[in-house]
Formats: sequence, structure tokens, C-alpha cells
Amino acid sequence: MSRWDFVGRTDELHRLLSAIGGPDGRGLLFSGSAGVGKSRLLREGVAALSPDRYAIWSVSASATTAALPFGGLVQVLPAEQPQGLSPAGILRWAVDLLQEQAAGRPIVLAIDDAHLLDPPSAALVHLIARAENTTVIGTLRNGEQIPLPIRALWTDDLVDLVELGPLGPTETTGLLAAILDGPVDAGTADRLFRLSAGNALLLRELVLAVSSSGELSRTYGIWKWTGRLELAPSLTDLIDTRIGQLTPGVRSVVELVAFGEPLGLQLLQRAADPDDVETAEERGLISMVHDDRRLDVRLAHPLYGEVIRRHCPVSRTRRLQATLADLLEQVGKRRRDDLLRVAVWRLDSGTAQDPALLLDAGAQAFGRYDVPLATRLARAALEADGGFYAAELLATILMFADRPSEAIEVLDSVAGEIHDDRRRGRWLTVRGMVSYWGLSRESTVEEIAAQGATLADPADQARVRAFEAIMRLHRLDTGAALRLAQAVLDRPAAPVAARELARCTIAHLQAAQGQYRRSATAIARVQAEAARWRNDMPYLQLAMELARGTRLALSGDLTGIDAIVADEFADLAGAGDFRLGTGYLAILQAYAARLRGRSDEALKTSLGACAVLATSQVYAGLAHAERAQAAALRGDAAHAAEAMAEADRTHAPGMAVLYPWLEQARGAVYAAADDLPAAVKHLCALADRLRADGFAGHELLVLLDLVRLDQAAAPVGPTCTDGGRRTVAQRLAELSERVDGMLPPLVARYARAAADGSPTDLLAVADDFAARDLVVYAAEATALAVQRAGRDGTGPARERLAALLRHGDRLATPALRQLRPTLSEREWEIARLAAEGVTSRLIAEQLYLSSRTVENHLQRVYSKLGVAGRAELRAALRSMPGHDGTDPA
Ligand SMILES: Nc1ncnc2c1ncn2[C@@H]1O[C@H](COP(=O)(O)OP(=O)(O)OP(=O)(O)O)[C@@H](O)[C@H]1O
Ligand SMILES: [Mg+2]
Repeated sequence: MSRWDFVGRTDELHRLLSAIGGPDGRGLLFSGSAGVGKSRLLREGVAALSPDRYAIWSVSASATTAALPFGGLVQVLPAEQPQGLSPAGILRWAVDLLQEQAAGRPIVLAIDDAHLLDPPSAALVHLIARAENTTVIGTLRNGEQIPLPIRALWTDDLVDLVELGPLGPTETTGLLAAILDGPVDAGTADRLFRLSAGNALLLRELVLAVSSSGELSRTYGIWKWTGRLELAPSLTDLIDTRIGQLTPGVRSVVELVAFGEPLGLQLLQRAADPDDVETAEERGLISMVHDDRRLDVRLAHPLYGEVIRRHCPVSRTRRLQATLADLLEQVGKRRRDDLLRVAVWRLDSGTAQDPALLLDAGAQAFGRYDVPLATRLARAALEADGGFYAAELLATILMFADRPSEAIEVLDSVAGEIHDDRRRGRWLTVRGMVSYWGLSRESTVEEIAAQGATLADPADQARVRAFEAIMRLHRLDTGAALRLAQAVLDRPAAPVAARELARCTIAHLQAAQGQYRRSATAIARVQAEAARWRNDMPYLQLAMELARGTRLALSGDLTGIDAIVADEFADLAGAGDFRLGTGYLAILQAYAARLRGRSDEALKTSLGACAVLATSQVYAGLAHAERAQAAALRGDAAHAAEAMAEADRTHAPGMAVLYPWLEQARGAVYAAADDLPAAVKHLCALADRLRADGFAGHELLVLLDLVRLDQAAAPVGPTCTDGGRRTVAQRLAELSERVDGMLPPLVARYARAAADGSPTDLLAVADDFAARDLVVYAAEATALAVQRAGRDGTGPARERLAALLRHGDRLATPALRQLRPTLSEREWEIARLAAEGVTSRLIAEQLYLSSRTVENHLQRVYSKLGVAGRAELRAALRSMPGHDGTDPA
């Protein structure tokens, strides 16, 4: 009784196939209770597809693969992957590879039990679902935890989620006939239907149970059940009983598969009697799946695994895991996940004695940013006498898991093992990093500088210097940071990781200074060298992201931000609990949303960033500052002030290099509270400070903020030789020649137009902002044009403003609020009706007023709004941000 014919489910099958062939590429996920028939339906659907027309990949996630990063997609990803890729790189590479293998055919990715995907695999599935020409189909069991990227499949409209219900009575009868290979007596079918409640697996287990107890008989070709079972037994009870009746040999086959699936057939046959393997397959407990060139063994149903694992005593579980690890080591680790699999089995079975294996596996897990797994492995390596290097790895990971004190303890425990300069150098850098960023001890910089100077080998010294440089940058000792970093780059003996870290330091500084081209070139080099630094220093990625993110944010390159957010696919770092990565990317994402005027998303995303970074000293201040900005954009002064206070409380002194962002937010918070003098004073002082620090990139944005507050003509900077001071607009003109990119000349034009330009100039500037998706700036420039135009000719400008505001969510910046005239309740009421096209006479009737009163009100409204008449009223109302029901249409 291995596999019987497929019965019923015609509508569901049709739906699945039309999802695949459908025009919008939207996939389909079936959810339902255990055993209801989801996997079978999916299999039938996949089998109905022609491999000539579709490139099909089928994956079944399982509890055993869920523990390994990318374990769930091991059948899809080739054994060999290019070295040194970031997780994002792996994702991109994997998607490219699938597209290549598909050779133009549409891709279908079928995932059974998608809830069991490990987080990175889940992230990859999401990415595949978003790619062109791909459809994701699959199953989910009800009541299970679902990884976020999988949940996002239907919230992002990439798939439909359909509940698969139980089989009906007719389908059940059909299924019974299929199982028993012959018709079934009506009373029997009815009883079994009630007992199984239309659950296919339960039906099958029931049939197995009653036939093994001899209660099933066949008369004149018709099956009849004579037994007396009245209460429905549970599915797991039935499975339990069946497994309990297995011979020890067959049972151990099923157990090995339960703990090791997917397991190569050859491997299994080394550990078990081939006859027992065969019996287990005949009994429908395990099944063979072709994968590439080999046969893999899996459980026929995941519930068997659950029952087995639950009932397996701890000692036996450990023995099995140790056996599996032995087996895989004997045949040689061949697949990309084998090292991690062996290491995890060793850990779980208490046979983790090989520190080198654990250390390798720990580094690999950290390289995939799976912080919890990396922590376990590195700790085991240390406990297995891995000594100095295990301590170094563990401490580094602990630092990124926001556990700095433990990291210091670990490091100090191996202080006695520093026998040479190489170790001393490494020890100093990790300890320095933990102490500086983890514990906010600023004196660290001087300490490691002094100790680093005593190292004899130039390579060791370079490593320490590179760390000193980036610390100095963070605490705003920029001149020294630059000199040190440059010295590292000049030193041929410097190890690659040290060199690239130094390059990140310089690139970050260049970004702040507005030298975006150089900064971008430097980062491109760091990236090109990734294969050579990633194993040694996976967290260098963070320094790279910060330098790159600073450049993109300052240069207003929102598409660039989108690219790195999608690229790193923040979920991936989130999945591995690599919070600094996730948190920083979320801040960037919120920033881009804010400049686009998507204030809902900006607020939500920045709140998310604050939550992820709550236990960290590194970016928490930045995250709260971004939240303050989002709240200010929405005109929510109280929220903005609260967020700013939180930013001040959490901002670590060792992150001083981020001060421009925090102080810029403070300006927005003052403005949101309608304290424009304070905002202007603060931003002017900030611009001066940035100028003194040479942060021209930041200075430009702060001056732009002043223009937005209608201060283009305000004086800034020192008194010049002519005795006067420059205006904001003049300083921006200077900066536009020193700062790279498209933004500076545009901002300078904006300032000029705002200071003394015509509405047409302002509208031209607005168009250029809008073309770059900088919606808030565009809307504000348009709003200024509307104001400047006065009563004459505001119509088209208002139309444009309305169109821009339709793109965004709630926006209530000072420039936009200015535009809001104060209309009385009654005036609003009448204006809204008039804008909808209701005649004055009808309005009068509706509101019990005379037509003349209505007309008088309307005239007042026109003059307050600066419009000529009814025709312009609609756009004028719509262009007024923030009033209740922004769009009267
Ligand atoms: N329509 C059907 N026709 C024939 N056999 C079916 C049908 N539906 C399910 N089965 C069989 O019933 C058993 C249980 O179904 P399946 O494995 O698809 O359940 P499931 O919903 O995937 O459960 P789980 O959530 O535990 O994975 C399988 O042996 C399957 O082949
Ligand atoms: Mg299933």
C-alpha cells in the first residue's frame, strides 16, 4: 500500500494550474490541517506540468533542515557556491543561477511545508517570488509558526493563500476505493468518513489499523469493515501504534531518516540493513526522492518524524545524531551544508570534540550572519579546548549579539594564551571593538593605540591601526582617522581585511565630505575584495554598509538605497538575528520612504529599526532620530519630541560621527513644534559646525532644511572680508561646486529661486526634485510657488501640488502647513460640497441657508484659498495637506 491514485480535488488542482499559467505570475499556497492532503495536491500539480514548458524546482522543508541556514533549499542550490559572497550575494547568485538554468522557461518553485523553511531560505524564496517570470506554489500546515518572508508572500500579493478543507463524503469513498483497490460498502465508507472527518492521512492510518486487526473483509468484491471502533482515534495515536509495531531494524531506519533527512540512500545503507530500508519503503514510511544525481531518502509524511522524534529517548537521539555525523564524515562532506550538518549533529549529540571542525562551522555560520547558531558553535569550540581562536570568534559574535560583557570575559579568559604578536594584535582589536562599541569606553582608542605600537610585525600593527582608525572616525577625530587609515593602505604588509577596513573608514569620511565619487570607487573596491576578507572579518560588511549608506542618503540617491535594502534583503540579517545589519538597513529604508513623502512607511520602518536596535549601543540613537524625523514630517510634534529625547538618551558618545543626523532631526523637531526661531537658530549653528568639520555633504542637507523653512536669504557662516556674511543661498552655490552629484546644483537653484525667483523657477525646481522621487522637497517647492503666485495663476501650481501630495501619506511640514488657510467649519462644509460639484442652490437647501449666504461663504473661501472660482476649488482643497479627509473627491 504505497501510493494510490489521486482522488477528487479537481477545483483545487485547476486553481493551482491556472495560478502557474496565469498572466500575473501570482502563486498559490495551500494551508490546512495535518494530513488533509496538501502535499499530495502539490505533487499532483507539479506532476501535471511539462518540464519542456516550465523550469520546475520542488523542495520539501523539514524540521531537520530548518536548523541550518539555507538547509531548506539544499536541493535547489548547487553544492558549490562562489566563495566569499555576502548573504545578499548568495541570494542574487542563486536567483541568477535559477534564471540561467531555466533558459527562458518560466520558473515554478514548489515548496512543501514552507513554514519549516529556515530563515535564509525563506528570504530567498521571497526574492524568487519577486523576480520576473517566476511563480511560487506550496503548502503550509495550520497552527505552525510561519517565517516572516513567507508570510510576506501573501501580504505583498505575490501569492494567494487558500485553505484546503477536508475531503467530502464522495471523495472519501473514492479515496477508500483507491486505498483498498476495490469498492467499499456504503455503511463502512460512511463510518470511516465520520471517523476520519475527511482527513486523508487519518483515513489511511485507520484503514491500516483495521485491516491489520483483521476486521476488514471482502465479500463479492466489496470491502466491509466489521469492527467496532466508535470514537475517532487521533492521528498521532494511530501512527504511534504502527511505529511501535515495527521491528527494531525497520524502526532504526525510520529513526535515522527522521533525524537526518534528506539522507543519501548510500549513506543510509551503510548504517542499516538494506532489507529493512526496503521494508520501510514498502510500508509507506519513507520514500525516495531523486535529487541531482543521487537518491535521497525522506519520510513519507512529516508526522512520522514528529512522532518518532517525540518518543525517542534523549540518549537514543544523541546516539543517532552521533551515528549520522560519523557516517557523513566517513563518506566525506560533499555538499555545501555538510560541514554545518556534521557540526550541529556533533553539538546535539554531545560528541563535539573537534575544535577545528566547530571553529570552521562557527565561522561559516557567522559568515551567513546566523548569530545564534554561530554562537553555539563557537562556544562549543571554546569548550572543546579550541583555545585562543575559538575565544576570538566567540567574543566577536557575542559583541554582535549585544552581549559585550560576556565577550570581554571570554577574551580575558584566554589572555594567558597570547604567545606571539599575531595573537596579541588580534586580541587587541577584538577586545578594542567590544570595549569601544559594546561598552562605550572611549579610552579604548588610546589603549589600543599604545599597545599596538609595541607590536613588531608590520602586518599585526596594520590590523590594530585599521581598528584605531575607524574608532577615531567614529569619535570624530577625523584628521587622525584619515592619516591612520591612509598609513594602513600604504603599507604593503597590511592584511586584506585591515586594508579594506581602512578603505571603509576613508570612504565614510569622503561621503560625509561630499566626495561621493571617490567614496563610491573605494566601496566598489572593498566589495570586489570581499572573497578575501569575508572569512577573516564578516562584520566588515557593516562598516561597508555604513559608508555606502551615508553616501546614498547624503546624495539623495533613493534608488541606490532601494537597491541595497533589497540587496541585503534586510530579512536575511534579521533572520539570523544580525541586528546591527537589519537595524541599519531599516533606518536607511525609513529615510528613503521619508524623502518620498511616504510618512506612514517611514514611521513604521523607523519604529521597527528602534525595536531591533533596542539593546544595542551602536545605532539606537540614529534610529530614534529617524523616527523623530518621520513623526515631524507628519506634524506629530509630541511623538517627534519623545523620539528625539530617546535619541539623546540612547546615542552613544562613541558614535559621535553620526551627530549631523541627530542634530538635523532636532531642527525638524523644533519646526514640528512650531518653534521656527529655535529651528532656524539650531540649523544655522549646525551648518557652521559642519562647515568647520569639513562635512560638506551634511552641510548641504542642513542648508536645504533652512531653505525649506524659507530661510534662503538668512545669513550663515563667518563674517567675510567684505564685512558681511553669506546667505544660505550663496553658501549653497559655493557648495554646489564642491559637493558631487546632481543634488547640490539642484538645491542651489532651489535656494536661489526661493530667495528671489519666480513661481516658474520654483516649479522647475520642483519638477527636478520630483523626477528624483524627492517628493517632499518637490511638494514644498511647489507650495512656495503657489504662495508666491498669489491670487493670479495659482491654478496649475495647485493642480501639481495636489498631484504630488496624492503620492505621499500625511505630510505636515512647516512649508506645507503654511498653505493651510484657516477655514471655519461652515466654510469647510460648503467648500467641500461645492468642490464636489453641488450647486449653491442645493447646498443652501441641504444646509438650511439662503443661496446668498452660501455665495458669500464661497467668496470668502475663494479669497482665503487664493483661487479664482469653483473650477480651482477641488485642486486647492486637495493640495492642503493634513486637513481631515485630504481628498474631498
Ligand atoms: N486527494 C487525494 N487522493 C489520494 N490520496 C491522497 C489525497 N490527498 C491526500 N492523499 C494521501 O493522504 C496522505 C496524507 O496527505 P498529505 O501528505 O498530502 O497531507 P498534508 O496535508 O500534506 O499533511 P501535513 O500537514 O502533515 O504535511 C498521503 O499519503 C497522501 O498521498
Ligand atoms: Mg504535507
